[in-house]
Amino acid sequence: MAYAFEQLLDVTIEHLEALKSEGRMTIDVSADSMDVLREMYRSRAAAARGLSQTSKPSAPARIQKPVFDSTPSPQTREEVRGAVAEPVAQPEVTDLIGRVEDWPVLEGAQRESAMAKLREQVLACTRCSHLAQSRTQVVFGVGSVHAELMFVGEAPGMDEDRQGEPFVGKAGQLLTRIIETMGLSRDTVYIGNVLKCRPDTPGKSFGNRKPTPMEMQTCWPYLMDQIKLIRPKVLIALGTTAVEGLLGKSIKGITRMRGNFQDFRGIPVMPTYHPSYVLRNPAKAIKRQVWEDMLKVMEFMGMEISDQQRQFFTK
Ligand code: URA
Repeated sequence: MAYAFEQLLDVTIEHLEALKSEGRMTIDVSADSMDVLREMYRSRAAAARGLSQTSKPSAPARIQKPVFDSTPSPQTREEVRGAVAEPVAQPEVTDLIGRVEDWPVLEGAQRESAMAKLREQVLACTRCSHLAQSRTQVVFGVGSVHAELMFVGEAPGMDEDRQGEPFVGKAGQLLTRIIETMGLSRDTVYIGNVLKCRPDTPGKSFGNRKPTPMEMQTCWPYLMDQIKLIRPKVLIALGTTAVEGLLGKSIKGITRMRGNFQDFRGIPVMPTYHPSYVLRNPAKAIKRQVWEDMLKVMEFMGMEISDQQRQFFTK
């Protein structure tokens, strides 16, 4: 039985590693499978502590170690095995993310201090050593941890890297105008990026590059923890990379997907064009498309929309 289990574990790990090497960042696990995995985990944790297989911890594993503690996802086969062999040392099965209704809810000051703790951890991150060397600083995220609306971008650019805040350059100024036109402010929403460090451009002192799948995968638990703490009602994914980073799959451009709500573990995601794209393509039709995406979000959130707001970029 134990041997069969080890074999099954081997095959599962190999399969997950193959998906990971193809750039896949998340997997979907049904609620039933989650229950089975939790039960298996509890039994093994109890066995490791020398307790009876049937005795259960007083609280579910995920509450024993808050997700915002953000233990790095297992990177190697040995670490994955270690997590299973020593469940007491690593009680949270961090890769089994689940859906929004499964996530612990932190309110008020508890949420704020959890985010502050996460921020401290992310600011000191050196998981991508090349980025840790090239960056001026980590760009964590900005806004309210109680926001109902969260914007997700790609990665910091040069201005963000210098100032330590997402979306403060030209694209950021456009994003700020969009947010304000919706009747909101940078303080009442939350703004983050898939990658928290500026992608390096070796040999060049300027320019941007797209984050690599490995960089996105490495940074993904941080975005995940931000989303888990904030629990926004809606996520807005700005551009192809943000959609790919959130949904964990590659898409062939955002044109077909934009304007149509997607699902991120129970949270609606509105894909729209990245503000940089709008700056590069300043046609009114493109601005209107972005604005229509925002109107859909506002409607979904039950926000009041004036006639004037509805008409923007139509004339
Ligand atoms: N573009 C992004 O995607 N994020 C930023 O923070 C700035 C520009």
